[in-house]
Parts: sequence; C-alpha cells; structure tokens
Amino acid sequence: MSIDHVLKLYSETIRSPFLHYGFWDEPKSVDLDSVNLQEIKDAQGRYIEHLSSFIPSNVKSILDVGCGIGGNADYLHNKGYHIETLSPDDFQRTVIDEKFKGEMKFHHCKFEKFDPQQKYDLILESESACYIKIDQGFEKARETLRDGGYLLASDYFVHHRDGTKNPHLKSSHDMDKYLSSAAAYGFELIKEYDQTENTMPTLDYGKYFIERFINPSIEYGIYSAKKNYPKTARIVGKLMGPKFEAKMDQMDLLDSGLFRKYRKYMIYLFQKKNV
Ligand SMILES: C[S@@+](CC[C@H](N)C(=O)[O-])C[C@H]1O[C@@H](n2cnc3c(N)ncnc32)[C@H](O)[C@@H]1O
Repeated sequence: MSIDHVLKLYSETIRSPFLHYGFWDEPKSVDLDSVNLQEIKDAQGRYIEHLSSFIPSNVKSILDVGCGIGGNADYLHNKGYHIETLSPDDFQRTVIDEKFKGEMKFHHCKFEKFDPQQKYDLILESESACYIKIDQGFEKARETLRDGGYLLASDYFVHHRDGTKNPHLKSSHDMDKYLSSAAAYGFELIKEYDQTENTMPTLDYGKYFIERFINPSIEYGIYSAKKNYPKTARIVGKLMGPKFEAKMDQMDLLDSGLFRKYRKYMIYLFQKKNV
C-alpha cells in the first residue's frame, strides 16, 4: 500500500496528532493575524471532543476508520472506549504502531476491503467518509456493525453543483447521494449537525498563511532566479509554468466563501436498522 504525502505533510508541519480541520467555538471572533499553531492544535482537540459528544451512551467498541495518525483514537481510548484503527496508509501504520507500542489493533487496508472478525458498536469516519466509496462503504458498515450499531461520519459533502469545474466539487461525496445510499443500506439518520462555520477559520488561516508567507517567498525566489540565472530560469519557467498555474487553481480550496457555496461540513450519526 502507499502513502498519502499530502496528509504526511500536514502531520509533519502542524505536528498535531490530528489530520482534520478542527472546531472553533467562536468562529466569528477569530483574528487571523493573531492565530498561532497552538490555537490550531487546540481547535483540533475541540473537534474530537465535540464529535465524541455524538457517541451514544451504549457504545463500548469503536472502529476508527481512516484513523490518520491516531489523535482521535488516543482521545477515545483515554475516554474508556475499546478502539481499533484502520487505514490503508503505510506511513500512518508506522505512526500508530509507534504511538501505541503495538497495543492498539491496526487494520491495514481500505475500508471497502476490510474483513471484519468481530462486530463493533460504532464506526467512526472522521474526515475519511469522502475517501470511501459510498455504496461499498455502507455495505461494509452493515457487515461490520452489530444490530443497532452506529456509524458516526464527520466530513464535508457537496450540496450544490453549478456545472463548473471548481475544485470544491471534486473529492467530496454528493450529500444527497450519500444520504440516499445510507437509507438504501438500512441506516437511519438519527442526528445531524452542520459544523461548517466552526471549521472555516482553519481554512481561512491556511489561505492567510499562504498569501502572507508562501506566495511572497515564491515571488522572491523567482525574482532572484531570473536575476542570477536568467537562462536556466527561462527554461525552468517554460517547463514548470503551466503546472504551477494549475496548482494555483487549487488555492480555491482554501477559499471559505467557495467552500460554503459548494460544501457543508456535516456530522451524521446513523443507526443500523434491521431490514
Ligand atoms: C483526512 S484523514 C483523517 C484522519 C483522522 N480520521 C482524523 O480525523 O484526524 C483521512 C483518512 O482516511 C484514510 N483513508 C483513505 N482512503 C481510505 C479508505 N478507502 N478506507 C479507509 N480509510 C481511508 C486516510 O489514509 C486517512 O487516514
């Protein structure tokens, strides 16, 4: 299996045990000029604290699907739940093994290919639902959960399409498709929460950081290369230019206005019903 290098980059730069957006209690009062790394990590801690408040009281065993680097699993383990983790990622497997010294069970596969050897009370999909094929994911969740068990998904879903190719419309599930598939596979939606506003300051900060530090540094680098190595800079510019511009389109992903236009960051608690 392979490594998701974008997620690895987040883990190595932010250096928190989480790979999600975090949760801001008072999003409107966040001042981007004064946000620091610790506040982002604190928001990530509040995210799992808030998300775990949706776990029903009769839950004891949890399968953390798309566990990332184990921050959520650690939090829930400390709350007394029996946790097992699952991810297809090689880097995350190493991190989980080192963090829990091999004491937390790790299933190294895509959820769609998981071969459950026991039934769990709850499946957690924290920012991993969008990576899992919709129908196969619900089918596997049915197989993996006990009767009356729960699927707690926290992720962003597309609620609006306008025929454009905006990057927000990629790599997220369609909200209506996701909810109808849940119903078709016998999952009843028993709670939902729209946490879009509580997650947007992280996106805003990402944009702020890139515009304030990364872009000026790149501009300076280009200026300096053109001045000192004009021929090489021209050749590299020709080769890299179009790719660089395509990458810059990805900046739309950090635009919270566009996020709101196309996506909602939802918490869904489903219960497996007998069909
Ligand atoms: C954005 S990270 C979220 C990590 C963690 N749940 C968190 O909240 O910090 C997405 C996770 O989903 C995992 N993932 C990707 N494809 C998957 C699949 N098909 N089945 C299960 N997990 C998958 C990734 O390897 C990663 O662990």
